[in-house]
Amino acid sequence: MEANIKILNHPVVSHNLAIIRDKNTDCERFKNALKRITYSLIYEATNNLPTIKKEIETPLTTTTCEVFDNRAQLIIAPILRAGMIFCEVAQELLPFANVHHIGMYRDEETLEPVWYYDKRKEIKEDKEKVFVLLLDPMLATGNSAVDAVKNFISKGVKEENIVFVSLISSPDGVNRLSSAHPKVKIITSALDEKLNSKGYIIPGLGDAGDRIYNTLD
Ligand code: URA
Repeated sequence: MEANIKILNHPVVSHNLAIIRDKNTDCERFKNALKRITYSLIYEATNNLPTIKKEIETPLTTTTCEVFDNRAQLIIAPILRAGMIFCEVAQELLPFANVHHIGMYRDEETLEPVWYYDKRKEIKEDKEKVFVLLLDPMLATGNSAVDAVKNFISKGVKEENIVFVSLISSPDGVNRLSSAHPKVKIITSALDEKLNSKGYIIPGLGDAGDRIYNTLD
């Protein structure tokens, strides 16, 4: 089965990814480089949002513009804690979106996700018009991604209206998410080689949360 994936291929992205992967990059440079890539990821992840035509008066004439269809409801869903790194840029670009935090951590032994926070138990809006951007910098085993997607589908969101945004993905993660949810689009800036026995992406960047929040031992 072919995965529904778009890998960003751009010199600005690859240059900043090199900074991020480097183990000698400190927390401040890491976050700044990641922020630069996030703009491209969010642009790409939102290119299917519905728009409508609107008449606008410029100082010289009237013209027809395309604007977001405000009947659509956009949810930005960062998976805590590392997913928060995408949130500031996502909110800057999409100020009308709701933020729905998802609290999950990975059990070190089973590599299965353990839920501890789910911001909104119910989606009350017209579910056909709800679009979700799921944010997590590392698509590793794909277990958390699949669980998070299932959670939104169980609340009535359409699978094809969910986009998974990651900085680095593994082949296992992409296969797992695409087999479970083939209509979910994956937007990423790199597809790496593999996972190691602890579920880390190789070559990857190490633990994204630790590098973002400066909690490396
Ligand atoms: N989570 C991370 O932070 N890094 C990985 O390589 C895999 C999962």
